[in-house]
Amino acid sequence: MSLDTPSFRVTFLTPEKKAGEFREAISVGDAAAALGIFLEFPCGGQGTCGKCRVRYVLNPPELSPEEVSLLNESQREMGWRLACRHYIRDQDIIDVSNSVVSAASKDFGPPTLEGISRPRFAFSQIDLSDVELGVSRSLEDAIERALKLKGQVSSDVVLRFSLAARRDLGRVWNIPQKKLLVVHDDAHVFRVFPPSDTNEIYGLAFDLGTTTLACALVRLADGKLLDCETAANPQLVFGGDIISRITKTEEVGTAALSDPLREAVDRMAECVCERNRVSPDTLVAAAAVGNPFILHSFCGVSPLSLGSAPFVPVWKQGSAFCGAEAGLRKLADVRFVLLPLIEGHVGADAVAAALALGMDRDGPPRLLIDLGTNCEVLLSANNELWATSAAAGPAFEGGSITCGMRAVAGAIDRVALSQDGSLFVHTISEAPPAG
Ligand code: FES
Repeated sequence: MSLDTPSFRVTFLTPEKKAGEFREAISVGDAAAALGIFLEFPCGGQGTCGKCRVRYVLNPPELSPEEVSLLNESQREMGWRLACRHYIRDQDIIDVSNSVVSAASKDFGPPTLEGISRPRFAFSQIDLSDVELGVSRSLEDAIERALKLKGQVSSDVVLRFSLAARRDLGRVWNIPQKKLLVVHDDAHVFRVFPPSDTNEIYGLAFDLGTTTLACALVRLADGKLLDCETAANPQLVFGGDIISRITKTEEVGTAALSDPLREAVDRMAECVCERNRVSPDTLVAAAAVGNPFILHSFCGVSPLSLGSAPFVPVWKQGSAFCGAEAGLRKLADVRFVLLPLIEGHVGADAVAAALALGMDRDGPPRLLIDLGTNCEVLLSANNELWATSAAAGPAFEGGSITCGMRAVAGAIDRVALSQDGSLFVHTISEAPPAG
């Protein structure tokens, strides 16, 4: 890679301009990602696929050996280079309007899913004047007694309070009317609010995909899906497939892949809240699913055990923790639930899909095929559930291919021959043909 200039201002043409200034040396891919442009790096920047092409408008950098072999002469002369081979030089102007850029798109389906919108939270209005604060050992004790008095939790249970609930209590315990809204389940108190409309308490659902991330805003009282935000997985700069990213982790460390992912999660939550005028303080819970690599990365746990035989994850059981524990800054007080992993390469997303389709319940034999960058196949029959997975990126998403491209802007999706013999070619988003 070339790295020989001292300042780093860059303009990307997308075709509109996106400009930025960087104080430290930064690769073309990272600079583009920092400005919200997610170039694709199918081979993880190994310099073998030739898919990360960008065009320098002026003064293209010196050719690397990989560019000599992967770009033809006219491309090289027109200023095309491989983004994974270069760092930003001061005043670079790089045209990415004909490059392969990830277009994030994911759908959570219908606003409510029949049979699975089962709220797991109880919302109890309590009155602290019903219990004598003076005889309570603590405010937690007073809340517990008030809930038991109303029959909201069993009398023999000892409730556990989240740190967020303790912070809430410190704020609201002496409000004049002494009435509080407690969000809890049978054994835990998650949050304590001043008297509020339960329809204004929210949760988030994250689908953390290898290529695309999605965040849904959900009303907790009835499980209604209100809105969805998507984003390209910022780890794309480290490779289009999981194995490339695990290999990259060995080189750059776990945090280099985890931090951008967690920042993207924070950003999506912020966007979806802003758009719906929801205060982040009313977010109580979040569920996250994804393949084992993504969830390890999300939690800041090294994924290296997934990269070689016997391909075992660090954990398999479902877990719960507060956002701060996972390094989330905007969602620090939100209680996260991770669904369990099935095996090293069959993850919580497969568990969620199986639950959504009722494959854990009796019924005729059913087959579930999730065609993503990683493909999972689940079979439910004779009271047993079988699962397997394989990399589907090369077949369906263009991972590690040398010809063709993913179905993103610029990919040819229709070809027709007209009666006069001329050829009609249509591309996705009607962008100039790429690939
Ligand atoms: S050649 Fe740059 S990502 Fe493959």
